[in-house]
Amino acid sequence: MDVLLEKIDLSQPAPTEEPMRQYYFIKKAKEYVKKAEEAAGRPLTACITTFGCQMNARDSEKLAGILEQIGYQETEDEEHADFVIFNTCTVRENANMRVYGRLGQLNHAKKQNPHMMIALCGCMMQEPEVVEKLKKSYRFVDLIFGTHNIYKFAELIATRFESERMVIDIWKDTDKIVEDLPTERKYSFKSGVNIMFGCNNFCSYCIVPYVRGRERSRDPKDIIREIEKLVADGVVEVMLLGQNVNSYGKTLEHPISFAQLLTEIEKIEGLERIRFMTSHPKDLSDELIEVMKHSKKICRHLHLPVQSGSSRILQKMNRRYTKESYLELVRKIKEAIPDISLTTDIIVGFPGETEEDFEETMDVVRKVRYDSAFTFIYSKRTGTPAAIMEDQVPEEIVKERFDRLLAEVQKISAEVCAIHSGTVQKVLVESVNAHDPSLVTGRLSNNILVHFPGNEELIGTLVDVRLNECKGFYYIGEAI
Ligand code: SAH
Ligand code: SF4
Ligand code: F3S
Repeated sequence: MDVLLEKIDLSQPAPTEEPMRQYYFIKKAKEYVKKAEEAAGRPLTACITTFGCQMNARDSEKLAGILEQIGYQETEDEEHADFVIFNTCTVRENANMRVYGRLGQLNHAKKQNPHMMIALCGCMMQEPEVVEKLKKSYRFVDLIFGTHNIYKFAELIATRFESERMVIDIWKDTDKIVEDLPTERKYSFKSGVNIMFGCNNFCSYCIVPYVRGRERSRDPKDIIREIEKLVADGVVEVMLLGQNVNSYGKTLEHPISFAQLLTEIEKIEGLERIRFMTSHPKDLSDELIEVMKHSKKICRHLHLPVQSGSSRILQKMNRRYTKESYLELVRKIKEAIPDISLTTDIIVGFPGETEEDFEETMDVVRKVRYDSAFTFIYSKRTGTPAAIMEDQVPEEIVKERFDRLLAEVQKISAEVCAIHSGTVQKVLVESVNAHDPSLVTGRLSNNILVHFPGNEELIGTLVDVRLNECKGFYYIGEAI
């Protein structure tokens, strides 16, 4: 990178093609940061806070890569940072409220530190009403951009340094995928890898297709090349990311299936574990089940969001499967891969949900016996078809159903987790235990957490561990 930046001549106009244009702005922003550092008489720090899903987490690593290149030092001390970045989520109303709450606090911090810059990006910024509100009531924000142009971060920072005004750059959608920009991984041994962007499914409750744009798959060669580079840099586990990985590759010039992509990734030497999310049940193929069954690297875990157990509600949700077809799919998967761990997402209180519909959901939970389930109270998202559906369910009823569901999910989950007691399994060690430094914490292939005696030298390695005691959602074990 340094060699590349060396060659760039800032007295020339910026190149128009990517990623060269961004390298130019990285160099330019770096000079601004250097000047600001000299003025402040100390290094400048930046703090990124990520809300939402794994996609956002991966995007934040890209932002961190650019920040590092232009000379910011990473900090977790948001209040005293010179540059605060919120990468936002808007999938549910409460995700949204948290951002406004945190922004209020930042306004005070910024008054103490006049050099502080604040940037907002991510899914929430793709909603025009949000940007209007920020322009009106949160004038102290310096930079606002969306989900389609995060690769332009360096250029936007340079623009902000050159102007005294709020910089706003939001695109409605894009068909562009810009490769080869710096990233800064959170973990040295594992990494998310985007295989596709956007979503075309338009589930009637969901805002993601509106804020992440149309579905676009990355070229398989670019994906393989990125993973090979990661492996050379110490990564042993990748998480392939997409809103619906099962429809990967369908729109490419040379179409390839997700199962074929997995087969190619499996061949990468040095890579030990492959995970992916999320799988939409309507597109999960027999070919994928076959590939998973025979794979040595694909983890024994499938996140298969059901959302509701009622076929009537599923149709209103535009999920395009029924309770019966979902249960049949689960049966096929469990038959092919008996040790698979299944997890799910469930929404309670979708408009029109009756007690009978809810009981259907409980029935699916009891039949599938998930390892764990993320349960959500339906949240009305402006602009989605469900927001204007009649029969929104009263809050007290939803709350009561939610509690019943959660209790059932947790009871089953503890039982399912316990079946591994006494077995020896491989654990990828992730960290030293935060509460007890004599323990390390890692994950099984099926994603369950395990704590066992060890030290930080084990981080990033795969260790054979006997699972001695199940504590509900995690194990206490010992290395053998
Ligand atoms: N692409 C993934 C989900 C991404 S959003 C999929 O299709 O499975 C993650 C989860 O948030 C969803 O599975 C859903 O359960 C939940 N969710 C999305 N929109 C929601 C809303 N309006 N209210 C409550 N939960 C919602
Ligand atoms: Fe949302 Fe449905 Fe797309 Fe998942 S598949 S992101 S729930 S629209
Ligand atoms: Fe949230 Fe955007 Fe992910 S809305 S869940 S951060 S795709």
